[in-house]
Amino acid sequence: MLQHIISAKDFDAPILLKFISECERFESQNHPFFLWTKPKILATLFFEPSTRTRLSFESAMIKIGGRCLGFADDKSTSTQKGESVYDTIRTTEGFADVILIRHPIDGTARLAAEATKLSTPIINGGDGSNAHPTQMLTDIYTIYKKLGRLDNIKIGYMGDLKYGRTVHSLVQALSHFDNVEHHFIPPDEELQIEPDHIECLKDQNVNFVKNSSVEAAIESLDVLYVTRLQKERFPDPMEYNRIMKNYQITPKTLSKTKPEFIVMHPLPRNEEIRRDVDDLPCSHYFQQAHNGVFARKALLYKLLAYGCL
Ligand code: NCD
Repeated sequence: MLQHIISAKDFDAPILLKFISECERFESQNHPFFLWTKPKILATLFFEPSTRTRLSFESAMIKIGGRCLGFADDKSTSTQKGESVYDTIRTTEGFADVILIRHPIDGTARLAAEATKLSTPIINGGDGSNAHPTQMLTDIYTIYKKLGRLDNIKIGYMGDLKYGRTVHSLVQALSHFDNVEHHFIPPDEELQIEPDHIECLKDQNVNFVKNSSVEAAIESLDVLYVTRLQKERFPDPMEYNRIMKNYQITPKTLSKTKPEFIVMHPLPRNEEIRRDVDDLPCSHYFQQAHNGVFARKALLYKLLAYGCL
């Protein structure tokens, strides 16, 4: 039972599979709709930019009959006057029934959950390079919808595996399923997934190939999960410019794939997927973003109706 949604590490296979069937229910017309006498309120506290996470949560909340308030930029908030996240949470928990927070510092969502005194569920909308559990829920729903399974898959991760929180959360979630093979394909060794993630995979006896190449792996992959380089988290901007130059997916890269193969991307994209890939049947990233509304409707409903997932 999860009262707060902080990390993909808190999930296991049965919770994830049950959640997928909730997403299916919320994607069909036949889903519960709150008839609250006093509509529930979602507070969105965004200390970092966002398009999909914030707007899909707001869309989901409105669609299940709730209301939203919040900020998209902390420059207009009391953070500028030196207010701590702890005090912001203690305050906003009195204004809302559920709180979604995104923050540039790893671990902030966990601190926010520890700060609540009114049992208000806290949802991590991304904390630094650490975790993005609701993107993970969107991603596993997308994979399940397309492939019909979460076991027996080969998935390649391309891009910023070091700072990319969506990759970290997806790797953790898929490691709960049988016979999943992870291929790590960073554009430069500097952006390889950190050793603690590799150690976790080893501990769980999960198959992985470090330093895979897209050319070597592409014919056997079921999913290629591409991410942008997390420019804002690079200590050295020159490094970003150097790595960015040799990193792009084109239709040619994808010319020898399995029939059911899909390309995913949490978005936003920069130059890493060329625009003409969008027209290929395997490109699935905009559908993935749209699936985020179903996943977030299911999540909000569960947290508001039952107080936990
Ligand atoms: C991602 C994020 O914020 O981590 N975006 C998203 O929520 N869909 C990916 C990114 O910023 O690169």
